[in-house]
Amino acid sequence: MSERLDLHGKHIVLGLTGGVACYKSAEFVRLLTKAGATVQVVMTEAAQAFITPVTMQALSGLPVVTSQWDAREPNNMAHINLSREADAIVVAPASADFMAKLVQGRADDVLSLLCLARPRAACPLLVAPAMNREMWSHPATQRNVTALEQDGAMILGPGVGDQACGEVGDGRMLEPAELLEDLIAFFQPKSLQWLRVLITAGPTFEPIDPVRGITNHSSGKMGFALARAAAEAGAQVTLIAGPVHLPTPRGVQRVDVMTAQQMLDAVLPLATSQDVFIATAAVADWRPATLSQHKIKKEGKKVAPTFELTENPDILAAVASLPKPPYCVGFAAESENLLEHARAKLLRKQIPLIIGNLGPSTFGRDDNALLVVDAQAHHALPADGAPTDKLTLARALMQEIATRRQASKP
Ligand code: C5P
Repeated sequence: MSERLDLHGKHIVLGLTGGVACYKSAEFVRLLTKAGATVQVVMTEAAQAFITPVTMQALSGLPVVTSQWDAREPNNMAHINLSREADAIVVAPASADFMAKLVQGRADDVLSLLCLARPRAACPLLVAPAMNREMWSHPATQRNVTALEQDGAMILGPGVGDQACGEVGDGRMLEPAELLEDLIAFFQPKSLQWLRVLITAGPTFEPIDPVRGITNHSSGKMGFALARAAAEAGAQVTLIAGPVHLPTPRGVQRVDVMTAQQMLDAVLPLATSQDVFIATAAVADWRPATLSQHKIKKEGKKVAPTFELTENPDILAAVASLPKPPYCVGFAAESENLLEHARAKLLRKQIPLIIGNLGPSTFGRDDNALLVVDAQAHHALPADGAPTDKLTLARALMQEIATRRQASKP
C-alpha cells in the first residue's frame, strides 16, 4: 500500500518530559513525518536525561527547543511563536510531575510555558502519560487527569503491560503507532459523535467437517476500514468479524465469529440499540445441511461425496425488518451490472442505502471503487471512479451515512 499522508500539512509541536518512554518518541517522530506532518520537538531538562536533542533534531529535521531563553527566536518568545504555528501540541511522554504542572498552570520551563500560552481554540493539547502503575493510579494523578480533561486536554492512553521498573500494570505510554492512529483520528471530522455503529466484516466459514468448509474471498479490509473510520468520526463501534487476520482498529469493540448463524446471533441482540448498521460481511449464502463429526475420508471411495446445502439467515434483512431498525447500509459485491443488482438488493432487503463494488477487482486489495445507491439516485465514490484506498473511501462513506441518517429521521 502506498504511504498514507493523513497528517499532510499539519504542524505538530511534540513535547518530551522525563521518562524512559522518551525512546518511543523517537519512533513517533518518524511516523509523524512519514504521515506528512512537520514536527517541532520541545524537550524539558528531565527529558534530556533520557534521550538527546541531537537524536530528536536528526529525526525531525528541526533544531530542538530546550529553553525559554532560546536566543534563536528573533523576538525571544519561543512559547508564543511555537504555539501559534502548531495545529496541536502533543506531550509524549507526559510525566506525572508535568501533568501536575499543567493542572496548576505553572510555566517555569519552555514546554509548560507554551502549553499555557497556546491559543486553546486553535491549538489543542494532547497528553500521553507515561509512568509507573502506582504513580498512575495515585489519587493525586487521577485528580490531575480529570482536571486536565476538564480544561480541554485530551488524554491518550495510557496502555497496560510491562513497565521499565519491572512491574506490570497501567501507565505505559502508548506505542508510537497507537499514538499516531489516535492523533490522525483526532483530526477527522466528528460526523458520528456519540452514535452507536454496528458493522459486520469479512467472510463466514461454514464447516463441512472438522477440517473443511465453505468460505469466500472476502479479506475484511473494507469492513475494518469502515470500523476505523466510524471510530474516527466519534462513534462507539462494534465490529462483528468473520475469520480474518486483521488488527482491530483502535477504540473498536470486536467480536470474532465463524459462521453466518454465529454472526446473526452476535448481531441481533445488539441491533436494536444501534444507530447505524453496516453489513459489509460476505456472508456465505448456504451451509452444509449436516456437519460431519469426523473428517470425511477419501480412501476407499470411488465417487466424490455430495453435500446437501441449506440457506443461511440473511443478517441484514433480519436487522432491517426489526420494528425500530437502525439506519441500515448494505454492500453488494457483484461481478457485472453493478447498479442493477445493487438497486434490486436495496428493494429486496428494504434498506435505505447500498454500496456496490465489483468483488473480483477488490477482494483482498487495499483499494476499491464504490457505487453509492439509494432509492432516488446513485453516484460513484470517488467521483471519477478511479480505485482509491479503502480508508479514504470509508471516511467519505461515513460522511454520506451521517448526512443521510440525519435526513431520514422523522
Ligand atoms: O444477499 P446478498 O449477499 O446479495 O446481499 C449483500 C448484502 O447483504 C451485504 O451487505 C451483506 O453483508 C448482507 N448479507 C447478510 N446476510 C446474508 C447475506 C448477505 O447480512 N446471509
